[in-house]
Amino acid sequence: MSAVTSTGQSLAASGLVFTYPEAGKGRMTAVNIAALEARPGSVTALAGPSGSGKSTLLYLLSGLMRPDAGSIRWNGDDLALLGEARRDGWRRRNAGFVFQNFHLIEEMSPEDNVLVGGWFSSWSVRGLRRRAAELLDRLEVPRERTRVALLSRGEQQRVAIARALLFDPPVIFADEPTASLDAAAGHNVVATLRRLAAEDGKTVICASHDADLLDSCDRVVRIDHGRIAATKVEIAEPVS
Ligand SMILES: Nc1ncnc2c1ncn2[C@@H]1O[C@H](COP(=O)(O)OP(=O)(O)OP(=O)(O)O)[C@@H](O)[C@H]1O
Ligand SMILES: [Mg+2]
Repeated sequence: MSAVTSTGQSLAASGLVFTYPEAGKGRMTAVNIAALEARPGSVTALAGPSGSGKSTLLYLLSGLMRPDAGSIRWNGDDLALLGEARRDGWRRRNAGFVFQNFHLIEEMSPEDNVLVGGWFSSWSVRGLRRRAAELLDRLEVPRERTRVALLSRGEQQRVAIARALLFDPPVIFADEPTASLDAAAGHNVVATLRRLAAEDGKTVICASHDADLLDSCDRVVRIDHGRIAATKVEIAEPVS
């Protein structure tokens, strides 16, 4: 789809513990995960009740936060051993984020929203614009709209996915990507995430309650009180 290429990234996390400070009570354990894996070309969903630790786990796996204990290996890099600047660097090179509430700038065009992350890159403006247009076309976003506010919610979420893909990151994190969409728009976003894994070899990790999304994932990891309660592998994965 473009000249940009990415190398697949496999996750192997183990012994992950993360605690938040609790007023007057010391600390509460939000994440306590013995082992978690994710592979290129697959969609992994973190499911579980509200407050079970799904978002916190996504922040750890993406290096936004550092665990109290454990390792988070993406290919050769253990994010748990890296300081903030190097984790930021890993994320810039490897990760794209999609959030429930899009986090778009409503008064800007779809293309300019996609380009926000490119402001400080070394790419030419022309190259960036070509890439943004290509992504918006691929995700079937009407590019001619002058403001993102004029798009449907499903289209806005697809702009957010396009923005996450600007530099073709091998890993996509999505926190409740369909939660504020109706069924049809949600289905379209799920299909988009699936295609990113199946066609582009991305490692996709979502936190979600959405039955449609959970049904179409390769692997569903159920989290309860920060721990893995069950793992369901939907599609046979190659034995490595
Ligand atoms: N910044 C914080 N400080 C203290 N506790 C926090 C903080 N963020 C989250 N928590 C607590 O950590 C636990 C896990 O929260 P988290 O947001 O990861 O859950 P979640 O599974 O994503 O929930 P939801 O489905 O509602 O998004 C919850 O008990 C929450 O109250
Ligand atoms: Mg959450």
